[in-house]
Amino acid sequence: MATVGLKDIVKVYGRHIAVRGVDLEIQDKSFTVFVGPSGCGKSTMLRMIAGLEIISHGEMRLDGKIVNDTPPRERGVAMVFQSYALYPHKTVRQNLEFSLKLEKLPPDQIASRVNKAVNLLEIEPYLDRKPAQLSGGQRQRVAMGRAIVREPKVFLFDEPLSNLDAKLRNQMRIEIKKLQRRLQVTTIYVTHDQVEAMTLADVIVVMRDGVIEQSGTPMQIFESPANQFIAGFIGTPQMNFFAGSVSMSRGVATFVGEGFKLPISKSRFGTGFEEGQNLTAGFRPEDIVPQERSKSAKLSADFLSAIGFTEMLGNETLLFSSYAGTEFVSRMAQPRFVAQDEIMKFKFNVEKMHLFDGDTGMSIRAA
Ligand SMILES: Nc1ncnc2c1ncn2[C@@H]1O[C@H](COP(=O)(O)OP(=O)(O)O)[C@@H](O)[C@H]1O
Ligand SMILES: [Mg+2]
Repeated sequence: MATVGLKDIVKVYGRHIAVRGVDLEIQDKSFTVFVGPSGCGKSTMLRMIAGLEIISHGEMRLDGKIVNDTPPRERGVAMVFQSYALYPHKTVRQNLEFSLKLEKLPPDQIASRVNKAVNLLEIEPYLDRKPAQLSGGQRQRVAMGRAIVREPKVFLFDEPLSNLDAKLRNQMRIEIKKLQRRLQVTTIYVTHDQVEAMTLADVIVVMRDGVIEQSGTPMQIFESPANQFIAGFIGTPQMNFFAGSVSMSRGVATFVGEGFKLPISKSRFGTGFEEGQNLTAGFRPEDIVPQERSKSAKLSADFLSAIGFTEMLGNETLLFSSYAGTEFVSRMAQPRFVAQDEIMKFKFNVEKMHLFDGDTGMSIRAA
């Protein structure tokens, strides 16, 4: 049972402010992922939660109790690093036992905890090997085992999968999720990879420049990003953006881009528009829909564009093109071969349009 409360947390390194006032309540047994570009303060947050960095200002609570001055060992948290941080001269078994021996646990308890972790992680065959004799994935398992044997109240992960190849990364990601579900331990996970964030998190916390830009469930963040930065950061390929402005006619607002006009729904975006206001329209790749020739007679295409290049992924094809000087990518759900320079028709799925203030980048939504 562990909740983590962060109140106005600040971290200052000399004259550099790495974290500028973070407020967050982390629920018991939840999986929270901090995501954001490199340097935004994710590791600093995690290290403060672990007790490895002094909190410059603010309050951190574990189960309601202030722990700012509690040393790492007494916080009941265990951290897994990208670099694994295993002892190279110890065997896997010795690596797993080490922290428990330091805590002077009785030998039978040590054996029982180690066995439990070994079974959970299926690392029995490597117990007598040294880290250098293990693959990256095996090392990562041992690093997790070392956290599990401590039976912590909170698991902390700092980009644990960054050193693995793509296939193994996907596999380990699923294992971490399963493990957390099984152990029901409050988990805080840091990554710059938005796919990891989307797939692992109960709650995603998007950070930028030392502040939380938005927190919410993966679907909330994906469907209702608070601003253009988050809209572009979450989702692959990223959301396409088109600059434009508002044209008002008898109280009805229209988005006017380079060479196209789109209606602005009052129910989705409200009524607070004025003539000439700068806007940015956002469409995810699946919402710029290629119109197949065979059907084109029935559909009114919004624009024509020559295909620059394609990525055929088997189950879908990504079409890279540009329109009126704006590059965009469209997702073709029913792929066929598309030649380079082929002219295709595209239609915006207006119901899925996002709108951002052209000056501040903030999302526009009906109140
Ligand atoms: N020990 C340190 N001394 C000075 N600056 C640091 C230190 N650790 C991190 N920083 C700075 O704090 C900012 C946040 O770093 P970090 O938390 O490691 O980012 P992230 O994990 O999101 O990539 C960066 O600008 C980084 O250069
Ligand atoms: Mg980091």
